[in-house]
Amino acid sequence: MKPRIIVHGGAWSISDDLMKPHLNGVRKAAGLGLNILNSGGSALDAVEQAVSYMEDNPAFDAGVGSFLNEKGFVELDAMIVDGRTLKFGSVASVRRVRNPIRLARLVMERTEFHMFVSEGAERLAERFGLGLVDPSELIVEREVERWKNLRREGKRSSYIFSTVGAVAMDSNGDLAAATSTGGLPNKMVGRVGDSPLIGCGAYADNLVGAASATGHGESTMRVLLSKLAVDLIHSTGHPKSAAEVALKIMKERTGGLGGLILIDSAGRFGYAHTTRRMALAYSKGEKIVAFISEEDRQT
Ligand code: GLY
Repeated sequence: MKPRIIVHGGAWSISDDLMKPHLNGVRKAAGLGLNILNSGGSALDAVEQAVSYMEDNPAFDAGVGSFLNEKGFVELDAMIVDGRTLKFGSVASVRRVRNPIRLARLVMERTEFHMFVSEGAERLAERFGLGLVDPSELIVEREVERWKNLRREGKRSSYIFSTVGAVAMDSNGDLAAATSTGGLPNKMVGRVGDSPLIGCGAYADNLVGAASATGHGESTMRVLLSKLAVDLIHSTGHPKSAAEVALKIMKERTGGLGGLILIDSAGRFGYAHTTRRMALAYSKGEKIVAFISEEDRQT
């Protein structure tokens, strides 16, 4: 099986000044993942590396550079899913972990549990040697400005979804998916979105396909967007159609917008978004194709 990877850097009205950083970021993330796959690494290794890179890249709402919550600090959620076993690891509301996706993988592989939150998750990070950072290290000036403007206007933004994710298939045909986010700008303290919830922010099943989602978390949870999309692969005949139908269902039933990336068990890619723009990159043989997908929409 020829390995492959697809990554996203969020689906929203990506502002013109962030287009280039998003494009370069998803290209680099997919390239790092592909290198791992080409060196015999697993799909899990590839999605972890791709997402971890985007957590380190301040362009995205994940890790460093994430949106700030109502109190002006970052709270992160992440999940990784193994298509061989349906096992997953996830963490939510962590404030002092630079790469929550690495912690999520440790949760999956080194504990008997699947999900840790807040202080307990941070204790695990220390125990597993990931180390903790000062919360201020995750904050960038661009997001302080966005936060100040939202606070001034008294708004909570529910239409900016810059969450990152990756889906990969390795040379054994194994599938994995990973998603990481800082959530919504100016969110309430303790609010957790879809990203760390199985079947919502991501899903992977070697027998069918794997998906990573971005979008309005509360809407995504209500339709279990990633599981819905994977389940639709058979009936729609292609992962691209599955992504489109899943997002249509979400929009019709909840009014929420978002984006999806998928790979099915035959290695076919799919993506779709109901937002104006979505940052995407995928492997084509040894090359990476990166682009901002654009639709004529307002949000
Ligand atoms: N999809 C990211 C969030 O709503 O938190």
